[in-house]
Amino acid sequence: MSETVYLETMGCQMNVLDSELVLGQLFAMGYVSTQDMFAADLVLLNTCSVREHAEEKVYSRLGQLKKHKVHHPESILGVIGCMAERDTDGILSRTPYVDLICGPGQLNQIPALIREIKETRKKAISLATYQSRRVDPAERSTMQFDTLEALDLSRRPQPGAALLQPYIRIQRGCDKFCTFCVVPFTRGPEQSRSPAAIIEEAQMLADAGAKEVTLLGQTVNSYAHMENSKRFRLSDLLALLQDVSGIERIRFVTNHPGDFGDDILVAMRNLPKVCEYLHIPAQSGCNAVLRRMKRQYTVEKYIDLIARARDTVPGIEIASDFIVGFCGETDAEFAETVNLVEQVMYKNIFCFKYSPRPGTAADRTISDDVPASTKRQRNIDLLNLQERISLDRNRPMIGKTVEVLVEGYSKAALKAQEAEQSRGQEIDWRRSNQLVGRTRGDKIVVFDDDEAQVGQLAQIRITAATALTLHGVCVTEQASRTDSVLPVLQHSR
Ligand code: SAH
Ligand code: SF4
Ligand code: F3S
Repeated sequence: MSETVYLETMGCQMNVLDSELVLGQLFAMGYVSTQDMFAADLVLLNTCSVREHAEEKVYSRLGQLKKHKVHHPESILGVIGCMAERDTDGILSRTPYVDLICGPGQLNQIPALIREIKETRKKAISLATYQSRRVDPAERSTMQFDTLEALDLSRRPQPGAALLQPYIRIQRGCDKFCTFCVVPFTRGPEQSRSPAAIIEEAQMLADAGAKEVTLLGQTVNSYAHMENSKRFRLSDLLALLQDVSGIERIRFVTNHPGDFGDDILVAMRNLPKVCEYLHIPAQSGCNAVLRRMKRQYTVEKYIDLIARARDTVPGIEIASDFIVGFCGETDAEFAETVNLVEQVMYKNIFCFKYSPRPGTAADRTISDDVPASTKRQRNIDLLNLQERISLDRNRPMIGKTVEVLVEGYSKAALKAQEAEQSRGQEIDWRRSNQLVGRTRGDKIVVFDDDEAQVGQLAQIRITAATALTLHGVCVTEQASRTDSVLPVLQHSR
């Protein structure tokens, strides 16, 4: 019988992609997936270190698995991803029963590490030790860029939404060293992948049914690849991807507001496949805070960039991340962030309470002096403000028709289907046929229709709006409706 793997993914899109590629390697070794953590022969946690809470979640999961390991000593338990790289010593001392530790830059070694554990019954550890990269770069082991990336489809084993809308990595690591951020220490130095490999992967995915690709990097707008003394920028890459047949939409995340060239905005305007959506984290609306964060731009520069984006790209939707309660943030400084959010009128924002990360410059040099209760309140205040703005922006959409790429059943429909199934009832499709799709500007739209629409571009007339979701009816002309050839998809993002 085949051995089973349970793989749980925490963290950002990079980890979602890494997990998919790790599963591809494991399937090639003969493993099959299980959803039952306690029945698996191999348990892997793909972890995130960006905030303390994310790491605590991993330790709590490892705590649950401790007894299981005692009863099944032959099973293999692994911690992979950013936390494996950042907190190796913590994992070794707090959870000595973990067998495998592998950083995000070494994931191509997982099959070899598993074989080693089976042979020796000893721990296997593979790290790049980026923590010391400024000390001794010569000793640093970085992964050859394309060794993990998939250039054959068996390495992209995820059915459903991941195949319709796959991620493609174009960049690894980050060199910005914002003072709060652990990513440069977990993912290592910035490297851009070759355009030829990216295009080849995009074409392979398109041939397999992909309609929308999302290019991933920590600061994709700084993508730069030298070839034959020509410098390829993100805008050049977008132009090359425009010509990949089968792909209908192109997105890229995430961007850094420093050095954001007009060439990218012009590419967004001129290339029909590039969606009018920009995720461009501001982190704060106050120059003094941005300086303490070492973000390398001012609020004025950021606002100017937003204005340029809106001038150049009609209909562009903009989203951002903010950190509240960063070291020394006063009420007046937070008020400047509130001002920025009011002024920009984002599509949506992600808002995080500052969490000091060991080893980062902020943790070493500035005091985390904003009380937890103040961080919590600022977080609530900013999210409430944005909710009002999102609703104000969504309401005028009522009556308009938008194009969506239909991704699958909505979360509500999946829940209804699950509940009906668990009661042993037959699924009532009148209650459970709500589909979900996204506009080019990344707005979420739900509407009732047949699952054959999944994977298609559909025209939806909006009939109602909440802050997060638009509701509508499909008005695609019958003649232009083609039923999907894709399997039933799960809405997974
Ligand atoms: N490369 C991206 C973001 C990577 S981390 C960028 O430059 O924007 C994703 C988000 O987590 C960040 O945008 C930031 O808002 C948040 N974040 C990062 N470190 C954090 C910390 N120490 N505490 C709280 N939030 C943090
Ligand atoms: Fe972290 Fe800053 Fe790099 Fe983003 S740009 S990953 S926030 S160091
Ligand atoms: Fe977390 Fe690593 Fe992503 S720290 S946010 S999983 S790059």
